[in-house]
Amino acid sequence: MAAELDKDTVAKAYARWAPVYDLVFGAVFERGRKASIAAAERIGGRILEVGVGTGLSLHDYSWTNRLVGVDLSAPMLRKAKARAEEYCLTNVDALAVMDAQRLGFRDGSFDVVVAQYVITAVPDPEATLDEFARVVKPGGEIILVNHLGAEGGLRSSLEQAFAPLARRLGWRPEFRFERLTRWADGHGGVEVIERRAMPPLGHFSLIRFAKLGGAAHAPMAAAAGGARV
Ligand SMILES: C[S@@+](CC[C@H](N)C(=O)[O-])C[C@H]1O[C@@H](n2cnc3c(N)ncnc32)[C@H](O)[C@@H]1O
Repeated sequence: MAAELDKDTVAKAYARWAPVYDLVFGAVFERGRKASIAAAERIGGRILEVGVGTGLSLHDYSWTNRLVGVDLSAPMLRKAKARAEEYCLTNVDALAVMDAQRLGFRDGSFDVVVAQYVITAVPDPEATLDEFARVVKPGGEIILVNHLGAEGGLRSSLEQAFAPLARRLGWRPEFRFERLTRWADGHGGVEVIERRAMPPLGHFSLIRFAKLGGAAHAPMAAAAGGARV
């Protein structure tokens, strides 16, 4: 089994990625980013984007939503701040260096938490998801878009083989959907309400969790072309 990620490795990896990140990952992840924003905006309100990176998605949110972005990597976040200034994004309330595993916000501070290509890059995904669930209001949603590991077959073997190198690049290619459902079942206060395949190659997914305790969630997945789980 590949070694786990640690915070230092992740911070160093993204300090190296920062200068070239937009070039390498800008276009390739764009559809997933846009789909997660569309899902978040069905709820709207106060949105926390965790692992906001260089802020590639910020200008795609509607002006009617209030945004807060956090990231572990100061070099990535500097780019996000420059981008927010360049586009005069007055709906961005704050961009701060912060660890997703220890969010400095009160319980129920946000209507939606969005994490694009982040959950497999954090040292402790379950602790991170606990924090997402804590800061989102009852009736709100956690929206992830991410690569998920194959359940078996050649792709799964390749992902396992690539895992040690991927750790140094700051991510876990073999992370499976089952780990997210196990977390949700164990947490008890959230429910997986959608998993939708995303490009490139359908190896990515958009996953929505509802925080229980608010108004009942309408069955939106079918309308969006996704599968309710
Ligand atoms: C693959 S990048 C995704 C960036 C952006 N969301 C996008 O769509 O391009 C992963 C981001 O997660 C951030 N990250 C990793 N671990 C983190 C943590 N523990 N807390 C906050 N951000 C973290 C990294 O610094 C990096 O900016």
